[in-house]
Amino acid sequence: MDWEQLKAQCMACRSCDLCTTRNNVVFEAGNREAKLMFVGEGPGEQEDRRGIPFVGAAGQFLDEMLSIIDVDRKRCYIANIVKCRPPQNRDPLETEQDACWPFLEAQIQLVQPKILVCLGRIAAQRLIRPDYRITRDHGRWEQQNGVWMTAFYHPSALLRDASKRPDTFSDLLSLREKLKELDI
Ligand code: URA
Repeated sequence: MDWEQLKAQCMACRSCDLCTTRNNVVFEAGNREAKLMFVGEGPGEQEDRRGIPFVGAAGQFLDEMLSIIDVDRKRCYIANIVKCRPPQNRDPLETEQDACWPFLEAQIQLVQPKILVCLGRIAAQRLIRPDYRITRDHGRWEQQNGVWMTAFYHPSALLRDASKRPDTFSDLLSLREKLKELDI
């Protein structure tokens, strides 16, 4: 499957009920050639309106976080576990995550990132381990199928709870080290 086929399939998807309330399918942001990939949870209101991941308040905060280590959207690829907004920004249901999984799986296969950073618990439990505990495990690195994986607190959680920010600062510095180590 190539990018155009994948994107066309995703834009037309009606595999779960989120398609009935969405305004836009939110497929991707950033650079398809990137070695660094971020995966969030699902679109919020602004993302649903514009069809681009992480463009609302959480997205602005993500951009600020990444600027600390000189990373911008041209250097990374950004996607979500589910491509359509869950109503009232509730957590995506397991069934919705399952329905959307083939798209993210194909995105990862096409991008072939060397580093994959999950943003928040939902992405970490889907991509790293079902029993991932973000409070305990964030910032730890592990390799899966040749890809270095870790998770950060979700930017929305950092906006709500500033006491988590120092931990994320350390996680960002460790990402900078990993980028250097892998010559990215
Ligand atoms: N939160 C997410 O997890 N993803 C987005 O795209 C926006 C907010």
